[in-house]
Amino acid sequence: MKPLIDTYGRIANNLRISITDRCNFRCRYCMPEEGMQWLRRSQILTFEEIVRLSRLFIGLGVEKIRLTGGEPTLRKDLPQLVSMLAPLPGLRDLGLTTNGYFLKELAGDLYRAGLRRINVSLDSLTPQRVQDMARREAYDKVMAGLDELASYPIRPVKINTVIMKGFNDDEVLPLVEFARERGYQVRFIEFMPLDAEGLWSRAQVLTTAEILEVVRSRYELYPKETRADGVPADTYRFHDGRGEIGFISSVSEPFCYACNRVRMTADGHFLTCLFSLKGIDLKTPMRNGATDAELAKMIRAAVWQKEEGHEINRATFVRPERNMSQIGG
Ligand code: GTP
Ligand code: 5AD
Ligand code: SF4
Repeated sequence: MKPLIDTYGRIANNLRISITDRCNFRCRYCMPEEGMQWLRRSQILTFEEIVRLSRLFIGLGVEKIRLTGGEPTLRKDLPQLVSMLAPLPGLRDLGLTTNGYFLKELAGDLYRAGLRRINVSLDSLTPQRVQDMARREAYDKVMAGLDELASYPIRPVKINTVIMKGFNDDEVLPLVEFARERGYQVRFIEFMPLDAEGLWSRAQVLTTAEILEVVRSRYELYPKETRADGVPADTYRFHDGRGEIGFISSVSEPFCYACNRVRMTADGHFLTCLFSLKGIDLKTPMRNGATDAELAKMIRAAVWQKEEGHEINRATFVRPERNMSQIGG
């Protein structure tokens, strides 16, 4: 079986599946405060369709699948979906990216369903600031969710933090300290032009270099690895061996050359890049009776034409129509 390869020689072995476009937060860097148009239920892939596509992608060499959203825990019966995916032969790694709000209720069921890896978004350690960023009261629920997670051997837990200048740029060190104490890997993600309101500007991005300077004012760091296995983060260890910290430098140091990711949106469109301007509709042919071989051919052709990378740093940059919650991060 030939892997999914593009014209730059990159192999796609990591699939991110968005299972809902809905979210109970309205993070500034992602969603508008109001007026988001949701997909209708009939437009969203069913669990059976998600499993069929997952099998197909695994047959094409995908080894890692990550469930995303919107907020994936809003999808009814998420543990059931996890229990359908986790045992698929050939799948090495199944992860979930969540805002953490429902983990108190769901962590146990997700663990029992076979989930072993979780990334949780957290942008601040104060209730008011979390509310400013997510535009929802969420701090207590997210903390309770993180506490609940600790009862299960779900490792590693990664904390995703987006720093926006003028909002939470004073929280770098407290977040690092919090993560070290609790054994999480905190990852600082540069703010990307995928917010729904089109408000992104370079001036709001706190770059990895700037964050590193702040972290190094207190801690000695050692680079751990250079993007092993296609992970988007540059990872460092602390001098005392306690914990790890990651940086996702999408804007200041794009890592597209090493990209191993492809994505399915909740409405069954296949995207070869976070910044793809067009997706390939796999849902319609699937519902019209396409065979696995026909779908595989479409997937191979799309990956072959995968874009070289994003163009955030070029004057010709065009924002995709979909915002982050419609893509899945
Ligand atoms: P693991 O490495 O498997 O732990 O997962 P991950 O880091 O890919 O998953 P997660 O959903 O936590 O992603 C963290 C952040 O990285 C999100 O903000 C994503 O938007 C960003 N990210 C993930 N993949 C890509 C990518 O292909 N390109 C860019 N530019 N950013 C990405
Ligand atoms: N830029 C960077 N990261 C973003 N996320 C959402 N919107 C953006 C953006 N515009 C991150 C969230 C979450 C992940 C799914 O995507 O922090 O961790
Ligand atoms: Fe929801 Fe995640 Fe977007 Fe925040 S970043 S609004 S938690 S989908």
